[in-house]
Amino acid sequence: MFNSYCLIFNCLITFITLQNVEGSVSFPKDFIFGVATSAYQIEGAWNESEKSESNWDYKTHFYPENVNDHSNGDIACDSYHQIDEDLKIIRELGVQSYRFSIAWTRILPDGFSNRVNEDGIRYYNKLIDGLLRYNITPSVTIYHWDHPQSLQEMGGWTNTLMIDLFADYARIAFEYFGDRVKHWITFNEPDLFCSDIKRGTVFSDGFGRYLCAYIMLKAHAKTYHIYKNEYYIKQKGKIGITYSSTWHEPKTNSTEDIAAAKRALEFELGLFANAIFSKDGDFPKIVKERVAFMSARQNFSKSRLPELTSEEIKTIHGTADFFGINHYTSDLVSDPSWESFEVSYDVDVHVDRGVDPSWPGSESGWLRDVPWGLHHLLVYIKDTYNNPIVYITENGFSQFELQDDGRVNYFKGYLESVANAIAEGCNVLGYYAWSLMDNFEWNAGYTHHFGLYHVNFSDPNRARTPRRSAFWYKDFITDQKS
Ligand code: NOJ
Repeated sequence: MFNSYCLIFNCLITFITLQNVEGSVSFPKDFIFGVATSAYQIEGAWNESEKSESNWDYKTHFYPENVNDHSNGDIACDSYHQIDEDLKIIRELGVQSYRFSIAWTRILPDGFSNRVNEDGIRYYNKLIDGLLRYNITPSVTIYHWDHPQSLQEMGGWTNTLMIDLFADYARIAFEYFGDRVKHWITFNEPDLFCSDIKRGTVFSDGFGRYLCAYIMLKAHAKTYHIYKNEYYIKQKGKIGITYSSTWHEPKTNSTEDIAAAKRALEFELGLFANAIFSKDGDFPKIVKERVAFMSARQNFSKSRLPELTSEEIKTIHGTADFFGINHYTSDLVSDPSWESFEVSYDVDVHVDRGVDPSWPGSESGWLRDVPWGLHHLLVYIKDTYNNPIVYITENGFSQFELQDDGRVNYFKGYLESVANAIAEGCNVLGYYAWSLMDNFEWNAGYTHHFGLYHVNFSDPNRARTPRRSAFWYKDFITDQKS
């Protein structure tokens, strides 16, 4: 009797403590909780109303073997036809903001800005107006990996022509939507789309990624200046960029492993962020030195990393009102014992990566639940980039079950990490859960489920059903706002 009383008493204490831990997570009152998606992953209607073929339409149609389940985004969540349904579930969550992206091919089918597709404009207008009607702030990503296939055939992000073409496309977005959209993200995760230049070739591995970084930075800066010089005075919005970064934890506290983890961060995040956010701009010193050293050993006449002129450094520096970060997971990085002089990005980075097997896994091999990693990353951003305004533009976990306890635990832990980072002075203003609903997860097709809402992809209506995490997120937000 006494024993079972103790057991119940202990349970009660544990329960109360947990409640307190959860209850004690507290965000500033004006903190923005949101939810995110992207065009190719949800819209479908791939060739309707004059929309043209994108690089992803082309890839999935001609090389289905590169996608786990040989699927594509032809219909996806059918969001092009289901705005009302999407708005309904966004509202159900009680979020303050919805992050989505525009499909370049839907508003400028030729890729150029001389011919605008009114049907595409109508679609995004309806979505934006629907959000604003319910006080939900649209956060719009101009480029989330899909561009006209016609431009891909000219080399895509390795062709400097993309700088002007992207800026022209962005101008159309400001022109048509900027009266109501006040939160713009030029690019989503350049590290990812720049790693996809032409897989498996020397060009991709050793050159393409760096060339893409250079072109993307110039396109971003040009767009930022256009917005500030031509639109800001009337539209008064904010414009930033979204990066991705894993947290790279040194495997041991040896000087070599600490240096290796720093190298991994500089090659993944710094390559794209340093020129905009660091005190002096330009590519990170570590990256410049390492690629120059390797290039010399490989008998190249100059570094494979393009050199930014002082004029370019000036033009790119400081061109963001906020630092968007997509963060999912962490790894353990060590200094490798191997040596290689192969022309390859991975050889340039020169690290070994692993994980702690005790970190809970998800449906995606690359994603484990390591909440403290986000805390470390936010402090790193604060210290490295002069405490910028940060939005966590994506954070999420893949799990299929409706009773998705793994996802709920993940959100609990990561949100607590964000709150701790804010308490330590990190300037984080918002957090977007990825994703509103299950969608086309790129090379994983429909086999990895990131949705707060489950989507039935065999139902022509693509019915959306809330998972436990949707209820949990809604309650969490209500709690924070009350
Ligand atoms: C980041 C990308 O922006 C998004 O498109 C993708 O679905 C998520 N990561 C999950 O992998």
